[in-house]
Amino acid sequence: MTDPAAEEVLVLDFGGQYSQLIARRIRERGVFAELLPHTTDLERIRERHPRALVLSGGPASVYSEGAPELRRELLELGVPVLGICYGMQAMVQTLGGRVEGAEAGEFGRTPLVLADGGGRLLAGLPREQQCWMSHRDSVFEPPPGFEALAASPGSPVAAFESPERGLYGIQFHPEVVHTPYGAQILDRFLRELAGLERHWSPASVIDEQVERVRAQVGGAGVICGLSGGVDSATAAALVHRAVGDQLTCVLVDHGLLRKNEAEQVVAAFRDRGARLVHVAAEARFLERLAGVADPERKRKIIGEEFIRVFEEEAERLPDVRFLVQGTLYSDVIESGGDGLAGTATIKSHHNVGGLPEDLDLELVEPLRMLFKDEVRAVATELGLPDRIVWRQPFPGPGLAIRIVGGEVTAEHLEILREADAILQEEIRAAGLYRELWQSFCVLPVVRSVGVQGDGRSYAYPIVVRAVTSEDAMTADWARLPYDLLERVSARIINEVPGVNRVALDISSKPPATIEWE
Ligand code: XMP
Repeated sequence: MTDPAAEEVLVLDFGGQYSQLIARRIRERGVFAELLPHTTDLERIRERHPRALVLSGGPASVYSEGAPELRRELLELGVPVLGICYGMQAMVQTLGGRVEGAEAGEFGRTPLVLADGGGRLLAGLPREQQCWMSHRDSVFEPPPGFEALAASPGSPVAAFESPERGLYGIQFHPEVVHTPYGAQILDRFLRELAGLERHWSPASVIDEQVERVRAQVGGAGVICGLSGGVDSATAAALVHRAVGDQLTCVLVDHGLLRKNEAEQVVAAFRDRGARLVHVAAEARFLERLAGVADPERKRKIIGEEFIRVFEEEAERLPDVRFLVQGTLYSDVIESGGDGLAGTATIKSHHNVGGLPEDLDLELVEPLRMLFKDEVRAVATELGLPDRIVWRQPFPGPGLAIRIVGGEVTAEHLEILREADAILQEEIRAAGLYRELWQSFCVLPVVRSVGVQGDGRSYAYPIVVRAVTSEDAMTADWARLPYDLLERVSARIINEVPGVNRVALDISSKPPATIEWE
């Protein structure tokens, strides 16, 4: 079997906000793409035998001090190169031509007019079209031997090429949806100009990773902690397909999960015939959390206890030498590694389930080449239920950090879990679950007065938090329909004893955070 990732495009990152998106878009076009820093050693780049290079955008001006430089050798590897935005300007800087600050930059939707037929890169596209720009400097003259292919009001040369040398540049961003012909332009570059075929898909990863995992673990035992989330579930399902009963999944149920979540995960893995240990450890966690209101202490206690329980289980299993982690490509990029090779990175950031090094287990990371949406595609292909595939992110310390300003007790957990279940049910019924990045309830441990029936109540409020986001770095509060909010509020107050008020959090991030603690 040929490795579908063997034909790859390297995207060299010059610091642009869309660099990851370029790699994703190329993969969507059926070609494997990886993102590497623009400073990556030439040798390392050559060793990869990339079939094409893409130079990303970036925030700098090519003239500013310390601006990322484009090494001429990269343009002489004998493979086609596409420079996007800063990448194009850097080509001009390296090869000659003229880039200068224009009177005003171009930001957002911009009309683009093709010159003649649009050259090889843009041939066949409408003479006038929209594109998405985000630049201050502009190219005024292409490098010698290059042909200008298009112009916009602020970019006399908005695209150029030298097909004999395999060099192409565009000032606008083909990777964002606001450039309607962006996908076609990428296709043209990948297929016609670089001669690449559609070999890659998230599903093609499965066979390849199954073989890799088998080769890595041989006959040894493997352990995988399931959190309830899609990453660990997908990693576990893949490894299970590779090594069957050599894998034992461990679900440390700290009692801080959402309603029925542990049961759903257990059922999904038992149905697949996977070995699974469900450790019901709520009592242990609650005991250690007694009297603790400080959020950082809560996180620390939960993290430590989680490790302890996991270790106890690992020690019970004979001959375990490998640990499965659901590390994703975004974690790999963040930690400066690369997907196919390089040092393994433990997903510790923000994550309970970050396990101690003295467990002395070798990591198996079958998702380290994948973006989140690709993981979902793999999960579906592996037959995991939609409930898990599309599950919204959920923090490792779970409901504990949504009980705010007070202690994590069984009573508080019960109230929060029931209220949250109602919110989830109504959001799903309204068809909004997948549109929201996260939706959940928060229980501030304060009480207020209400009237319920004939008497006064003195009970807790529930805060509804629902946000839209791309990556959790920024988030906007979701404009949930009033009638949905009304149903949620009425049901929570009527059905959850101990609650007499429902409030809605209408803060975006920044300055607020998504979670309350
Ligand atoms: P914030 O609240 O910082 O959250 O805007 C950003 C994302 O991280 C999640 N989050 C956590 N995840 N352990 C986790 O595993 C944590 O302690 C934690 N705190 C926040 C949060 O749910 C959101 O997706």
